[in-house]
Amino acid sequence: MQKGQIQFEYEIYDSIDELLTEDKDLLEQAREITSIAYAPYSKFLVGAAAMLENGAIVKGTNQENASYPVGICAERTLLGTAAMTHTNVPIVTMAIAYNNLSAKSDVPVSPCGMCRQSLSEYENRTGKPIRLILSGMEGKIFIIENTGNLLPFSFSGDHLLGL
Ligand code: THU
Repeated sequence: MQKGQIQFEYEIYDSIDELLTEDKDLLEQAREITSIAYAPYSKFLVGAAAMLENGAIVKGTNQENASYPVGICAERTLLGTAAMTHTNVPIVTMAIAYNNLSAKSDVPVSPCGMCRQSLSEYENRTGKPIRLILSGMEGKIFIIENTGNLLPFSFSGDHLLGL
């Protein structure tokens, strides 16, 4: 018997002012766009802003639905837009912020399981890792170099091909 182990490092910042200018701008845009999230049911407004390899910025917010499971997260809204408007262009960095209208928004949250799977597919499709900046409207900021770290043992198209 052998044992495997998976671990990864991420960066923790106390303030947005500690970030590189480009990262700070992206996080500010993610925070700003929470204002147009459509989340009348959860009141948990999520904004995502991504810098693509070609320099374009693509954004997304969560889009809820009275039929709750129909709602879509900000990250997947963004990925769909990126795939349509900049087909096959890698995403370098994605900032994800939220504004919880019912509670504080000062602790970073990370993408849900379904979004991790979508992010993983986008990384595989473009062949480049997506760097993540996670934060609320204030407080600490986490930076994760590779979204794949959030989904170890991920299922991919390779498995369908028997690779
Ligand atoms: N949500 C996102 O948009 N992204 C996440 O990373 C976590 C959750 C949305 C889904 C739903 O509209 C609301 O936040 C509450 O779960």
